[in-house]
Amino acid sequence: MLFEPYKLKNITLRNRVAMAPMTRSQSPGGIPTNDVVEYYKRRAKAEVGLIITEGVEVSHEASSAYPNVPRLDSKEARDGWKKVVDGIKENNGHVVAQLWHCGGFRKLGMGPNPEVPGHTASGLVRPGKRVAHAMTSLDIEETVNAYASDAKICEEIGFDGVEIHGAHGYLIDNFLWNGTNDRDDRFGGSIETRSNLATSITKAIRNNVSDKFIVGLRFSQWKQQDYTARLATNPDDLLKVLSGPCDAGLDYLHSSMRRFWESEFEGSDENLAYWTKKLTNIPTMSVGSVGLDGDFTDMMASAKTASIDKALKDINEQKYDMVAVGRALLSDHEWVIKMKEGRLKDINPYTKESLLEMY
Ligand SMILES: Cc1cc2nc3c(=O)[nH]c(=O)nc-3n(C[C@H](O)[C@H](O)[C@H](O)COP(=O)(O)O)c2cc1C
Repeated sequence: MLFEPYKLKNITLRNRVAMAPMTRSQSPGGIPTNDVVEYYKRRAKAEVGLIITEGVEVSHEASSAYPNVPRLDSKEARDGWKKVVDGIKENNGHVVAQLWHCGGFRKLGMGPNPEVPGHTASGLVRPGKRVAHAMTSLDIEETVNAYASDAKICEEIGFDGVEIHGAHGYLIDNFLWNGTNDRDDRFGGSIETRSNLATSITKAIRNNVSDKFIVGLRFSQWKQQDYTARLATNPDDLLKVLSGPCDAGLDYLHSSMRRFWESEFEGSDENLAYWTKKLTNIPTMSVGSVGLDGDFTDMMASAKTASIDKALKDINEQKYDMVAVGRALLSDHEWVIKMKEGRLKDINPYTKESLLEMY
């Protein structure tokens, strides 16, 4: 079933393989260049079912932590994205933009406004390290509005939807994580109320786009600050994390793991995507070293091509609905075609050159 069409909301994807969001940092001034257009077009031409773009920094003064990451807050950037979307559509692909606020990864001195500090829930960038700006209610309101208006812009450009980046220790995850959120207002507190930022953003986007526009949320247990951190240690808690954003109108969830074959909770062999789908009943995407024999703790390390039998079996058993592929699609844009045809030996293996080149 992995290589068969899949209906996600109103669109029919050619297959259940998504390209995982991967930052390229090759959009000077936040503007996607023609090289970016060709990079995505190549994957659409080679039958990737759903392209999730690299993180696009939302139009807020504190969203950026890295240079040359694409944005939406200039006409040039929006025109650049239009060309990206057109290139994908001309090749029968579908695409959602990943909306990203870097939160505490931002430091004073970073562009585009060097005087703006990193924004986090409580000033914490990791447990015990309080060096960022603790967001006020007004900061939160402005940030939520930025997501909503950027989502609208994405719809106008022609994207099929947006994916809210709520993973890996960035802003939304900083609110979700008890280690970095000790607020005493409605955006802090219990495991449920720490989800209120994600819920507010989902709601605001939903209210600002048409019904047919897809809104997804990516989340993770692991953080870049701590690979062993967890939002939930049992299924009940996972549901508490997810139910607010789900009720606000999500169309899919993207459960980010580093190794998709690992079990999530004690007493069961199933992974985070399995539990996400089982608990929420929302279309769910699994990810993490699919088709590779090494996880991405060290992105520079090469990884051999591996069989995808487990992913195929999981999809056939409807444990989750889609599979996102990251590094394997960087090293070989024809990964879907070659995998579908069982030509594993023809797949270009992942090396540090694939990462540096990002062809
Ligand atoms: C170069 C690179 C850039 C990435 N950038 C993003 C990003 O912008 N947003 C995001 O949510 N994850 C990002 N990730 C994580 C990937 O989406 C994916 O979850 C991870 O690489 C595991 O999948 P893989 O083993 O198939 O590569 C990035 C990963 C890599 C290797």
